[in-house]
Parts: sequence; C-alpha cells; structure tokens
Amino acid sequence: MIVGKPIITVEQINQRVSELARTISADLAGKDVVAISILKGSFMFFADLIRLLDIPVTVDFLISSSYYKDHSTGKVSILSDIKESITGRHVLLVDDIVDTGISISYIKEMLINREPSELKLCVLLDKKSRRKVDVSIDYVGFDIPDYFVVGYGLDYQNRFRNLPYIVEFRKELR
Ligand code: IMP
Ligand code: MG
Repeated sequence: MIVGKPIITVEQINQRVSELARTISADLAGKDVVAISILKGSFMFFADLIRLLDIPVTVDFLISSSYYKDHSTGKVSILSDIKESITGRHVLLVDDIVDTGISISYIKEMLINREPSELKLCVLLDKKSRRKVDVSIDYVGFDIPDYFVVGYGLDYQNRFRNLPYIVEFRKELR
C-alpha cells in the first residue's frame, strides 16, 4: 500500500538506524541509561534502535498528545508518565519527528526537572523549517522538508503507523 510519494525507504531507514545505534552506543557506553520512547509515534523506531544498541539500557514509555495542534491551546498533555526514576541517570529520549519543537521541548523540560545526569534527544525525522521553539537534538535520523509524512510509526488520524517505510501523506490518495 502506497499512500503518497515515497520519502524514505526501508533500506534507508535500516542503514540510518544502525548508524545512530552505533554512535549512541559509543557515547553512552558504561553509563546507567534509561531509554524513553514517546508514544505512540516512536514505537517502531524505538524498537529498532534499542535492539541495535550494544549497551545495557532500561526502557520506559511516555504517552503524550500534542493537543495544541487541533485546539490551539498551546498545551502538551502527558497522558501517561514514565515509571522509572531518572534522577542521576543518563536519559535517551526518543521521538518520531520534531516539527514546531513544542512537544519535545515541553517533555525535555519536564524530565530535566527530575535532575538526570544527562539527557540526550534522538529523533528519526527533523522538519527544521517548521521550528517555533529552539531545541537542540543530539541525534537526528533524517532532515526532511515540510511534508506531512506517515509510516514507520507516524500517523494521520491514527492510521498508517504500520507502514514499514515513510511516505508523504496526501489526502486525495487516501
Ligand atoms: P511538534 O510539537 O510540533 O514538534 O510536533 C511533534 C509531533 O507532531 C510529533 O511527535 C508527531 O506526533 C506530530 N507530527 C508532526 N509532523 C508530523 C508528520 O509529518 N506526520 C505525522 N505526525 C507529525
Ligand atoms: Mg509524536
């Protein structure tokens, strides 16, 4: 099933995810790492990334919703928080995509308040041209132009997350 113009293939994803895993493993070797997946969007990327890390990690999950997109409330909601204590530990926070940057910077600030030793941000996709909040990302899979994309965890109205590749979503092809 193709819903739009292919943006990133399965092969490109596999190659880039293993490169990221190698870099992250080297950077975080010997540390007490808590890897946190922001759900739902990052579930597939997270599963692929952490299985390629050759360092021990504790995994945890956080469910957020970017409410502000539909309702202009400027609010990010945490629907379910992580269960691990991260104080004094090294955190790897993983998300699917940074668009305005509002969600990831909100979550970052929330976690920083718990005083981890270190917090690294890792995202699969970065739409830099859309940024509203300045946030520096330590590990980026791919920079992409301002397309709305689906697949490999990313959705349109909760659909298309299961596609193994990333495509531009166009309503007329739905
Ligand atoms: P931000 O707060 O504007 O950076 O939005 C980040 C969140 O919006 C991501 O975690 C996604 O859930 C969603 N998002 C942004 N752009 C896209 C896209 O192109 N496709 C699917 N979801 C997107
Ligand atoms: Mg998301």
